[in-house]
Amino acid sequence: MKEQLRQIEETAVAAISSCTDLRALDELRVKFLGKKGELTAILKQMGKLSAEERPAMGQLANQVRAALETAVSEKSAALQEAAKAAKIAAESIDVTMPGKRPAVGRLHPLQIVENEIKEIFLGMGFSVADGPEVEYDYYNFEALNLPPNHPARDTQDTFYITENILLRTQTSSVQVHVMENQKPPIRVIAPGRVYRSDAVDATHSPLFHQIEGLVVDKGITMADLKGTLELLMQRLYGDDCKIRLRPHHFPFTEPSAEVDVMCFNCHGEGCRVCKGEGYIELLGAGMVHPKVLEGCGIDSEVYSGFAFGLGLERIVMRRYNISDMRLLFENDMRFLEQFR
Ligand code: DAH
Repeated sequence: MKEQLRQIEETAVAAISSCTDLRALDELRVKFLGKKGELTAILKQMGKLSAEERPAMGQLANQVRAALETAVSEKSAALQEAAKAAKIAAESIDVTMPGKRPAVGRLHPLQIVENEIKEIFLGMGFSVADGPEVEYDYYNFEALNLPPNHPARDTQDTFYITENILLRTQTSSVQVHVMENQKPPIRVIAPGRVYRSDAVDATHSPLFHQIEGLVVDKGITMADLKGTLELLMQRLYGDDCKIRLRPHHFPFTEPSAEVDVMCFNCHGEGCRVCKGEGYIELLGAGMVHPKVLEGCGIDSEVYSGFAFGLGLERIVMRRYNISDMRLLFENDMRFLEQFR
């Protein structure tokens, strides 16, 4: 029996010391020290020994057990230490590697200019109004003095959803919502998307953006309109910028005007950009038609107002020298990344 114990100790110690991973080590522990292990099997035979032999053999068995347990736990600690070291080595960071630049978004050029125009008007005491893009015919046309069959409807090729629901063709529709819900004094701008059934080309898109303006109060005159728009253009294009009003017709204003802005390129001299004119047509405006005021419950004997509508794309294209409107809607990153 003594021989057997020595034998077990020798093979177990050798196996444990040459063991290279924790799982195999645990298998060895079970094999030698477990309940059904080799050492236990021998101890079970102790009963067969004589009373004199038993204590010495018991002591030896305990020594062997202790020796094996120490060997297992030392080996286990060593293997864990090695595994940790290997993990640390594998995870080491190379601080000299070039970093990955996080992609930071930026504003679309349309949004940049819209924000700028909003700021200018907020500075003049305007607030920003909003209205639906899917609109009743009434708000888009009828309340703006464009009854059914009015020929001017033809100039705004419309996407109809039903007979009397459509995608708004102009932000002028917001004027009506504002006047229905608010009593004068009114000073609002209404930026937003508008839609027309136009074919796409370098200067047309079925979706584009307008900014509407509306002021209604006692004693508002065309001078207020001109002063307001001139200040806007001077903020956008520089303090020497002048504007020019040309008579025009819009059903919802009387009188109406088209507003030309001094050419930013030649400052009125006449050049290639303005085709020799010195001025560039930029927006529509006028004094709110009494019928429109009355239709919204505002007494046109007491109040007067002016309104204007400008196309955002035009201003953006001029500002950034963009020659094709499609670039604004194609969302090509190479294009969009150029603006801040
Ligand atoms: N809604 C007009 C358009 O889309 C632009 C416009 C002209 C708006 C005159 C106005 C205005 O408010 O007074 O062509």
